[in-house]
Amino acid sequence: MGRIDSLLAAMTLEEKIGQLTMVAALPDAAGFVLAEEARAAIAIGHAGSVLNVWGEARTREVRTLARQSRLGIPLLVTYDVLHGQRTVFPIPLAETAAFDPSLWEATAQVAAREAAEDGVDLTYAPMIDVSRDPRWGRIAESPGEDPRLCAQVAFAKVRGYQGAGGAFDGDRVAATAKHLAAYGASIAGRDYAAVDLSERTLHEVYLAPFKAAVAAGVAVIMPAFVSLAGVPMTAHTRLLRDIVRGQWGFDGVLISDFQAVAELVAQGVAADLVEAAALALTAGVDIDMVGGAYAQGLPQALERGLVEIDLVDQAVRRVLLLKERLGLFDDARPKREVASAGAARAHAAPTQAMKDGSSASSAPERASRNLAREAARRSIVLLKNAKDVLPLRPSVQRIALIGPLADARRDMLGPWAGAGVADDAVSILDGLRAAMPGVDIVHVKGVDVIGEELDEIDRARRTARDADAVVLCVGESTDMSGEAASRARLGLPGRQQALADTMLDLRKPVIMMLSSGRPLMVADLIERADAVLATWFLGSEAGNAIADVLTGRFDPSGRLPVTWPLDIGQVPIHYAQAPTGRPPDPDNRYTSKYIDLAVEPLFPFGYGLSYTRFSHHDLRLRASALSPTDELVVTVNVRNDGAREGEQTIFLFTHDVVASVGRPLRELKAYAKVRLAPGETKAVTLSVPVSQLTVLDASLKPVLEPGEFDVYVGPDARSQSLSKARFRVRGSR
Ligand code: GLC
Repeated sequence: MGRIDSLLAAMTLEEKIGQLTMVAALPDAAGFVLAEEARAAIAIGHAGSVLNVWGEARTREVRTLARQSRLGIPLLVTYDVLHGQRTVFPIPLAETAAFDPSLWEATAQVAAREAAEDGVDLTYAPMIDVSRDPRWGRIAESPGEDPRLCAQVAFAKVRGYQGAGGAFDGDRVAATAKHLAAYGASIAGRDYAAVDLSERTLHEVYLAPFKAAVAAGVAVIMPAFVSLAGVPMTAHTRLLRDIVRGQWGFDGVLISDFQAVAELVAQGVAADLVEAAALALTAGVDIDMVGGAYAQGLPQALERGLVEIDLVDQAVRRVLLLKERLGLFDDARPKREVASAGAARAHAAPTQAMKDGSSASSAPERASRNLAREAARRSIVLLKNAKDVLPLRPSVQRIALIGPLADARRDMLGPWAGAGVADDAVSILDGLRAAMPGVDIVHVKGVDVIGEELDEIDRARRTARDADAVVLCVGESTDMSGEAASRARLGLPGRQQALADTMLDLRKPVIMMLSSGRPLMVADLIERADAVLATWFLGSEAGNAIADVLTGRFDPSGRLPVTWPLDIGQVPIHYAQAPTGRPPDPDNRYTSKYIDLAVEPLFPFGYGLSYTRFSHHDLRLRASALSPTDELVVTVNVRNDGAREGEQTIFLFTHDVVASVGRPLRELKAYAKVRLAPGETKAVTLSVPVSQLTVLDASLKPVLEPGEFDVYVGPDARSQSLSKARFRVRGSR
């Protein structure tokens, strides 16, 4: 009999339910504190996993508690390492702008190594919710609006965290695909609010990334807090059991979101914790994250016959199997013990050298920070550069660095900063001073991010008046982004608008940088500024990366993974619009548009500028009549029309012109990057297997329908940017 069978045979009901119960260290002024009650539960085997504990000493201590229990089943140590542990990378929305799966995998691998060194076994990442509503604060954690892109991120991140074969060798952690599903479609962009959408949209848009995560071998899936058409995800048997486990073959562990099992009562589907526990277990949720619903409700649920002990055993088996796969029964992974010594060093007080990014305390730390700088640079999206005011001219001698985000360090880390600490982050001021030692950089905060207290606007005006250039750093604080941070108005908070207006009234070159976890509705300021960059929350190396771009050491190459609305009134808005019988026509009142606002976003999906200019020409197809087993092969010439080398990203969208259901006007199928010297032209070829043109027919069955398709190729999703050609898919005969 194997180890797991023997354990199951020996376990009491309380010990079995213990393996399905997670306790958490909760935040307080001193950091995260694990309550005495939680520690006691671990020590008697009534809690088999813990949230928010990391660091060599603290994880060793709680693991020792678990080993003291009757059966000594090892503890599963879990934490939200979403975009970095000690080295913090750009928020996922920003990093997706790099459109580079190898980068996404590389940063996840470093995050995994540092998390494993800190004694973490499992991270609650990647977050792969398709997000099309910037009011929702968690868009910051997502890979944006496109299901295929989210699926690519899912696959890359799972491999990065877990390793290619999911072997979890030493410096890897178990990954969690979250939050299944359609969390990003919560009504009115309000976090935790109900979701109601068609089965088609659920499958074609919101489940796609999770299917990719399962294909990548993800160890854990977390159902979302929300209800879908009245059924809470945490109790969604049809989705969790029939589709995820049944059809997709997912045999990993399902961990509820925080107290989500207990919240089934408030969701109106359970009268008490007993019914809540029964519903969640029946749906296939293995671990109850905090809330105590399984511990308090399952014994009675079994007594009342609401669930059978076999369901409990199946859940326990999956949890024990995950612990075995992670090597936890072998008293943690040998590499981790050695590595954790390194972790102690890494927590040493950051050196000044680390702050300005020129070096870190060790070679691995240096490599991690260099990767963080590379990821941050490639996440920056240049939205505007009128009169080529950027890169900053060598003649610039005096810069007025204005705004509440200029000297911010903690905000650069974003809403889920892992074990990252503000002092380790390089602020924009740090970065600019390190990059431009000979330039006089005068910093004035001007106003706070939010609130009315600080008023240095006049001092900011005087400083800017005497400068060669104004770099304006505005946006959100990190706690205005992420979970429980939905915003109904997406302008600049506090008195930042007044500060920005004052700067722009000076008629001097103003470079505006937007630090945020979402597109901000600041069209008026973008209109007036000379240059605008989306600098998101870029992580530990934010300031150095921004300086690399402003000085021209790095040519901005980021492209928007999410549509940037002109106004909140356009939301929800995304490029893959469904067809209408009355497409917007400015010359025809009776068409689908607003009478008081344009229908086009300010910036489309895929948009982003470089310091040079590109054009594309001569779109041609290798063949325009294709069989179902063929590939669509498209070539386009891309030319660098500017005076600097640069990198262009070219996107390929398709549109199924006539199908059994109306298909989105554009669907991203491929993209490619090309570096070009000034004046250089290269042929860029993109290919798409015809099988990827499969759709769900009216009865949601996948089908490849013969007929006419349009292919669009260009630098972003805006119609005016795209070249078009038509091809045909023949019947299967
Ligand atoms: C939070 C989040 C989830 C996170 C979990 C553990 O409420 O919804 O994304 O992984 O709790 O911190």
